[in-house]
Amino acid sequence: MSDTALSTPAPTGAGDFLRSATSPHFLGLEGLGGPELTELLDRSQAYRDLLDGPGIATRELEGVTVCNAFFENSTRTRVSFELVEQRLGASHVSFSAADSSTVKGETLLDTLKVIESMRVDLVVVRHPAAGAAAYLARHLEAGVINAGDGAHEHPTQGLLDLLTLRQAWRGRFEGRRIAIVGDIAHSRVARSAIHGLRALGVEVTLAGPPTLMPLGIENLGVTVAPGADEAMAGADAAMTLRIQRERMDQGLLASLSEYARIWGINARRVDLMKPEAVVMHPGPANRGVELAPDVMDGPRSVVFAQVTNGVAVRCAVLVRCAAAMGLPRKRGGA
Ligand code: CP
Repeated sequence: MSDTALSTPAPTGAGDFLRSATSPHFLGLEGLGGPELTELLDRSQAYRDLLDGPGIATRELEGVTVCNAFFENSTRTRVSFELVEQRLGASHVSFSAADSSTVKGETLLDTLKVIESMRVDLVVVRHPAAGAAAYLARHLEAGVINAGDGAHEHPTQGLLDLLTLRQAWRGRFEGRRIAIVGDIAHSRVARSAIHGLRALGVEVTLAGPPTLMPLGIENLGVTVAPGADEAMAGADAAMTLRIQRERMDQGLLASLSEYARIWGINARRVDLMKPEAVVMHPGPANRGVELAPDVMDGPRSVVFAQVTNGVAVRCAVLVRCAAAMGLPRKRGGA
């Protein structure tokens, strides 16, 4: 399976979506309504409170087996899933494409069927192809959690972004506006954020190089600003996205220095926002390109709070998917 979304926006319907309390899969934020998102955020906040207090050692997933299957590099997502699986008491194992038998020609589905045959209950999958997680969900008995599929969605990132904003905005989404600046066309982070933010009533303004702005993106209920200044003026938050250096080789960007000048989030642009507005970045960041170092390390930055919230939302999602499968199983009678 190749990444079919390199030159076009990920299609709506690239995945099936968690729509009901009985679905064991968490594949995207598209289709989730405000009440479902609020419930997930409430559960996530409870884990965040534990993390800031006594710690998360609930053992809620004792007897549940999870496999983290990463076919693309990751630091934040993979480590946080592994940490919470440990803290929640699950048996867990991880592998990456480079150290798996996929390099010998085994298909994605065959590889995951092998994993499932070892009685794995949940698989956390990152893959460069849009729709890979939904494809697996259709063919596996295990619950599938999408840890990022091509340019389609990154739903746990979307949830952690929503949790971070809810904290920064003191619980109120209505009447807020966020500027999302950068490479929208290739960003699964932007796509999940847009779905979640719109469902919660947040106004979304996009800005980025025309070569990296999908045609018809307004159909997702967002507006496109002519420049970064216009997008950020008066906003309640700004989210900047990682510039993927390979886009220069594809002729979609002239140079990183030009990108930084025209689209980078710097202190002057931050001052255009409301005084309480925050700056977000999903990571990994190219310091000095999409985000100036003094902004990333400054008082408006919630970049590291986003990472901490990632631990909390991944607890909520794992427990939610396990519960939908009736896990952990009740032990036999006395
Ligand atoms: N934001 C994000 O998904 O980071 P990683 O690639 O490090 O997991």
